Amino acid sequence: MRLWLDEHPSPRPKAQRVTGARRIIFGNQKGGVGKTSVSAGVAQALAESGHRTLLIDFDPQGHMTKQLGHPLIEIDSPSLAKHMLGEVKDGALRDLLVPIKGGDFEDHLWLLPACKDAFLLDAKLATSRFVRIKETALEKALEPLEHDFDFIVVDCPPSLGYSMDTAIYYCRTREGEEEDTSGIVIPVLSEDSSADAYDMLEEQIQDLIEDMDIGIAQLGFVVNMYDSRKGYVATSSLEAWQKIGEPPVLAIVPELKDQREAVRVKAPLLAHAPYCEQAEAMRTIARRISG
Ligand SMILES: Nc1ncnc2c1ncn2[C@@H]1O[C@H](COP(=O)(O)OP(=O)(O)OP(=O)(O)O)[C@@H](O)[C@H]1O
Ligand SMILES: [Mg+2]
Repeated sequence: MRLWLDEHPSPRPKAQRVTGARRIIFGNQKGGVGKTSVSAGVAQALAESGHRTLLIDFDPQGHMTKQLGHPLIEIDSPSLAKHMLGEVKDGALRDLLVPIKGGDFEDHLWLLPACKDAFLLDAKLATSRFVRIKETALEKALEPLEHDFDFIVVDCPPSLGYSMDTAIYYCRTREGEEEDTSGIVIPVLSEDSSADAYDMLEEQIQDLIEDMDIGIAQLGFVVNMYDSRKGYVATSSLEAWQKIGEPPVLAIVPELKDQREAVRVKAPLLAHAPYCEQAEAMRTIARRISG
């Protein structure tokens, strides 16, 4: 019997379910580099080309939610953070989604709005008695939605806390998933402090890779608000980003008025100014990460 078992091992435990949703997070703990603008624009571009796309506003500041013209979720109502912490008794996460209308992406783009309760998420994840919740909480909460979407795009907060750990873990290369299908995009500026910020983020990513024995694809940098008139600091920093090579620079987005105007009128960029240079840059990034 023993021999027979040795010769006929049971099939490998089924590899972790690979769902249809590709998971792209936009992260950098440095504030104001364009995580929100670029993640929203890229999600619009993905949806415009027919992908069912879900945008997650994972920043308690709720910039993306407000910029897309939606109210934040009330502090006592069910929210993503409460779902992650197992604090919701009734109702599904799906009930919180709102459609983003306008532009050619209509009917393909949805938003999970932010709630200020996410300010407490790091502390609550830190003290939770559930093992590994710090890493797995986002994945567990979003899993029921994955079948309904081709892409899940996460706008991360400017932090290196546990919220960021759980977001980085969520975009890991799952077993059976092709490399670079999911991963992190890092918006940066062309200046020295952005390079220091990247070193810290890179360290956090490497720590997770080692601790959890996982693969994390860094899909690329987006050098945002680039203005060569700023002189040597801007041009030499851009060269430095390009020289890294892996991850590559996905796009250079100039400092332009359209993004700020779209924010002012609370409209998605690709509906407000669909043919502007910035909208084209968002489509380029979307093509490069979805190709
Ligand atoms: N290419 C651009 N040209 C001009 N303004 C831009 C551009 N990209 C973003 N902005 C503006 O810069 C500001 C910061 O951008 P954004 O909110 O996307 O950064 P963020 O990294 O998400 O910030 P935070 O760390 O606070 O979440 C916003 O007012 C945004 O409208
Ligand atoms: Mg932001």
